[in-house]
Amino acid sequence: MAPETPGRETQETLSNLLREDRRFEPPADLAAAANVTAEAYEEAAQDRLAFWERAAERLTWEQRWETALDWKPPFAKWFVDGKLNVAYNCVDRHVEAGHGDKVAYFWEGEPGDSRTITYADLQKEVSKAANALTELGVGKGDRVAIYMPMIPELPVSLLACARIGAIHSVVFGGFSATALKSRIDDADAKLVITADGGFRRGAPSALKPTVDEAVADCPSIEHVLVVRRTGQEVAQTDKDVWWHDIVERQSAEHTPVAHDAEDPLFILYTSGTTGKPKGILHTTGGYLTQSAWTHHAVFDLKPESDIYWCTADIGWVTGHSYIVYGPLANGATSVIYEGTPDTPHRGRFWEIIQKYRVTILYTAPTAIRTFMKWGDDIPAKFDMSSLRVLGSVGEPINPEAYVWYREHIGGDRTPVVDTWWQTETGAIMISPLPGVTAAKPGAAMKPLPGIVADVVDDQAQSVPNGGGGFLVVREPWPSMLRTIWGDDQRYIDTYWSRFEGFYFPGDGAKKDEDGDLWLLGRVDDVMLVSGHNISTTEVESALVSHPKVAEAAVVGATDPVTTQAIVSFVILRGAAEEGEDIAKELRDHVSKTLGPIAKPRQILIVPELPKTRSGKIMRRLLRDVAENRSIGDVTTLADSSVMKLISEKLPSAA
Ligand code: WT7
Repeated sequence: MAPETPGRETQETLSNLLREDRRFEPPADLAAAANVTAEAYEEAAQDRLAFWERAAERLTWEQRWETALDWKPPFAKWFVDGKLNVAYNCVDRHVEAGHGDKVAYFWEGEPGDSRTITYADLQKEVSKAANALTELGVGKGDRVAIYMPMIPELPVSLLACARIGAIHSVVFGGFSATALKSRIDDADAKLVITADGGFRRGAPSALKPTVDEAVADCPSIEHVLVVRRTGQEVAQTDKDVWWHDIVERQSAEHTPVAHDAEDPLFILYTSGTTGKPKGILHTTGGYLTQSAWTHHAVFDLKPESDIYWCTADIGWVTGHSYIVYGPLANGATSVIYEGTPDTPHRGRFWEIIQKYRVTILYTAPTAIRTFMKWGDDIPAKFDMSSLRVLGSVGEPINPEAYVWYREHIGGDRTPVVDTWWQTETGAIMISPLPGVTAAKPGAAMKPLPGIVADVVDDQAQSVPNGGGGFLVVREPWPSMLRTIWGDDQRYIDTYWSRFEGFYFPGDGAKKDEDGDLWLLGRVDDVMLVSGHNISTTEVESALVSHPKVAEAAVVGATDPVTTQAIVSFVILRGAAEEGEDIAKELRDHVSKTLGPIAKPRQILIVPELPKTRSGKIMRRLLRDVAENRSIGDVTTLADSSVMKLISEKLPSAA
């Protein structure tokens, strides 16, 4: 989202308040054997396009590209005239190379059932599903909506679409019928793939009724393909086809045809804070190049020995790029888990790591802060000595959460890579490299080799070290979104109009004295206090650095004197007492950590924070509370009862 507060343009850019002196050097053995070394930065700086061409050569192309990049700003074509099949690259080529018996996925169902799927199994499953889609009349360029729990048929469905050149549009299984319908309509999808339900929090949770409700009024949908997962009863409509009826009887052979590097691979909708969801469009060659290379580089993936687990849902871009496409293109062995981290107990994640000897874990700050709140004793009960690299994505990671993650999950041995990217960027853009970077807790550090990002002021001038401002990307990158589905103008307006010639992701950032990058959250969340632009992230991190605080959310509320005043919502750690003095103690702590300008006007102790289904704090709703307004649209909240809990906690004259 572009910032829509023109008044701010004349204000100073983001304050640079936080000081952090901790550094974590890469472990010597990891550095010595790392997939990518410091040379990669130099190689990419010398010839960026040649660098990406070498990354593309890691894939198998049926026809090599003519030109690496055709750039007619802001429209990019990568690997022009190249042809490849994404599913062949993710599956068949590994079988052909003799790795058919290698495990692609260890799948763990929430109730404790499990399945082991080798690359040879995956080849058969994907081929059958591709044949079934063809029988259902789905062909190249058709759109397929996918609304499923985290079961093996989900990645199989994505790959089946990719194989035949159909464009998938995955809609997260927690979304409502209205959200599903609007996404089906926008993409004009022909088919929905779904399941009767999935297991969540110890019980079957139905999906099919939501699809029925959405599809009742979607003329474009010809069929609904339904996987039986929970066995719960489902109403039948005349569009329904059972997966076990149609897919199982197909031939397990399917010859993939090569698609153009710029043929669409998928659409994924991002909600954005206003307006209708944007259908972010990704294509095949560049997307697979960057998702695979970054997975190899940022996680130092060794396909022979690593067991990799990304805990995201495939309904988000993290799952697309780092559960399905990147890991499979690299021939990795991954874990997929269906359910929630607290079922049947709060050690479930650590039990899974112990069971499969997971070596690389990729999760989100919101999950890490929840584990901190649950207590250090829970992970301590499990053997997690197999872990060697930890990753974080989705929000800025507070330095305290970073250090906790490294210590309590990584046994103080593992590097933590804080990876910045977006649905729109398709793959990781800014991140430490685990064998190269002396990482700072809370910093995404440097753009990856081949990525040219910067921090600029409101006049688009690069800020000096020590300065803050707006994150921009100066050059196109292979996995960039190509447009917003059906709306080129909105693509131009949203991402390419704020700073002439640069991509604007909508995030604030700062450069520290060494020139390393710290992400400061969405610019819409930045507060203006007595002429200073202060980032909510920095104040939140200061609060979380207090031993009694588990989580914090900060907003700017209108204030007659200071323009905005800082209001904080705080969840205390398990044992901490909610007392008279805690608010004062925390206000003083922020003042000491960041300076008096950042001292919150008000601190409210709350039991929960409002979050989206992908775990991001919805500060907009907290602003409504802080400014004493009726609360806005809560339809994207993961748990709609949270706002009531928070309102009950408020002093009546808040
Ligand atoms: C927004 C994109 C990328 C996959 C998941 C989210 C925030 C993401 C970080 C990070 C600070 C981060 C940004 C970004 N974000 N990763 N490591 N540090 N902020 O995808 O839903 O498209 O959200 O998430 O604000 O713009 P998304």
